[in-house]
Amino acid sequence: MIAQFQAQAARLSGQSLRSLFDADPARMARFKLDAAGLTFDFSKQRLDGKALDAGLEAARAAGVEAFRDAMRAGEAVNATEGRAAQHMALRGKESFFALGQPVSHEIAATRARMRSFAEAAIAGQLEGWEGRPLRAIVHLGIGGSDLGPKLVLEALRPLRRPDLEVRFAANIDGAEITDALAGLDPRETLVIVVSKTFTTLETLANGAVARAWLEAALGPAAGAHLVGVSAAPQRAIAWGVKEDQVFPFWDWVGGRYSLWSAVGLSCEIALQTGVFDQLLAGAQAMDAHFLEAPEARNAPILGAIVQTMNRIGYGAQSYCLLPYARRLALLAPWAQQLEMESNGKGVTLSGAPLIQPAAMVTWGGVGSDVQHSFFQFLHQNLQSVPCEFLVVLGPGEGPADHRTHLLANAIASAEALLVGKPAQQALAEMRAAGLDASEAERLSPHRAFPGDRPSTMIGLPALDAKALGALLAYYEHRTIAQAVLMGINPFDQWGVELGKAMAGLAAGELRGSAAPRPHDPSTQYWLGRARA
Ligand code: F6P
Repeated sequence: MIAQFQAQAARLSGQSLRSLFDADPARMARFKLDAAGLTFDFSKQRLDGKALDAGLEAARAAGVEAFRDAMRAGEAVNATEGRAAQHMALRGKESFFALGQPVSHEIAATRARMRSFAEAAIAGQLEGWEGRPLRAIVHLGIGGSDLGPKLVLEALRPLRRPDLEVRFAANIDGAEITDALAGLDPRETLVIVVSKTFTTLETLANGAVARAWLEAALGPAAGAHLVGVSAAPQRAIAWGVKEDQVFPFWDWVGGRYSLWSAVGLSCEIALQTGVFDQLLAGAQAMDAHFLEAPEARNAPILGAIVQTMNRIGYGAQSYCLLPYARRLALLAPWAQQLEMESNGKGVTLSGAPLIQPAAMVTWGGVGSDVQHSFFQFLHQNLQSVPCEFLVVLGPGEGPADHRTHLLANAIASAEALLVGKPAQQALAEMRAAGLDASEAERLSPHRAFPGDRPSTMIGLPALDAKALGALLAYYEHRTIAQAVLMGINPFDQWGVELGKAMAGLAAGELRGSAAPRPHDPSTQYWLGRARA
């Protein structure tokens, strides 16, 4: 499989992207497709028909479709933890199973509870609130229990309810929970503690501060202001959430795939009625596409082939995610967890070391801001970084001319990365502008652009809940398809455990509750500084 990608890359390496357009009049038709209302244009990526066929062959050989179908069927596709990965069930309309057990009924029941809780909250009729209105939600969670809801609430800000503030605290840095609670009235605040495991240090520590804050102000009434969301409801109850205030999800939902569950309760409440349903519907439309579209027209599968080709064919270590939409500023942090926690693995499913890395570093920022910061690097540094541009094609917010400029900057940036500017052209332009010959000669290498830098363009019809749901589901499926191509498990995350365990030991040493252990001199030094 790796050899296939590398052979195609070796064949195409000498060919410019522009020559690929010239060589294939059907290139746009082959590499552009619509899926769940979104448009994907992979034509500026360094692949031709033959390379695409090789990628599709590799996907077949790796069993991408078979894995997808097994995932849909609720089989134990998370092989190292013996679990299903049924996030599609959370937004699906038909019956779903996890390890042979039906799950759709409990999903529907939880969705119904979420809706009626939201309705009561909005109507000022939450039990134990004495008719007080809900003015603020404090959402406490980290990783997958934080990034998705935060992204959605930011992306869909125009669809939020007025007069309802939502604050987040994830970090164990006390500044974050301090800021999250500052100035709020506990009588009008709902604290939602979200943790799949309900064992996560950061979330429980922040939760304890928020719980004490509620109790200090409200006494026994505090319980009505505290909600838990967890796949371990008994732990949430033992921690202090009232049983009827706990919203469940399940171990067959991976943390970074969990936005669609009760993890999205803050979104259900803070967005206008029906918007969260629209988000789920958009994701469901992308699920249907992923499940039904033929491989060669399947956006997540093509996206996975492009990512894999860039990683192991061309050796790209990272790709740059570039939404030209202010409201998608949190897309890159969300995708970082999704892609790097899922696929940042070192061994295959059978435990054999990977010969090639499976994941790229995901990084990025919002256009056009980043054109004025790291675009210098994208255009002229020696190593080409594949880019992924996102544009919103609908009317947009604010003055029409802002939209024109925003889209022009996205489209032209992708074009500039593709075409570049030879030194001769830079020289001729300077001469035409009246610069003397020797100065133009001196400056032309600085003002030349190598070009031939690949990118994908993704178009959203509007930044609405449906398009956002479809977009996020696209990234989920692409991540999983990439993992299957590389033969790894995208659903576990053992790699986060060592740091957590050692931090626990270090905290014991800092507190003086554990005997000091031997450390390397550097660690010893910094523990000493932290103790002082
Ligand atoms: O430490 C990593 C991780 O387990 C992520 O996978 C997860 O999204 C995050 O921590 C939060 O976990 P939990 O929802 O169990 O608190």
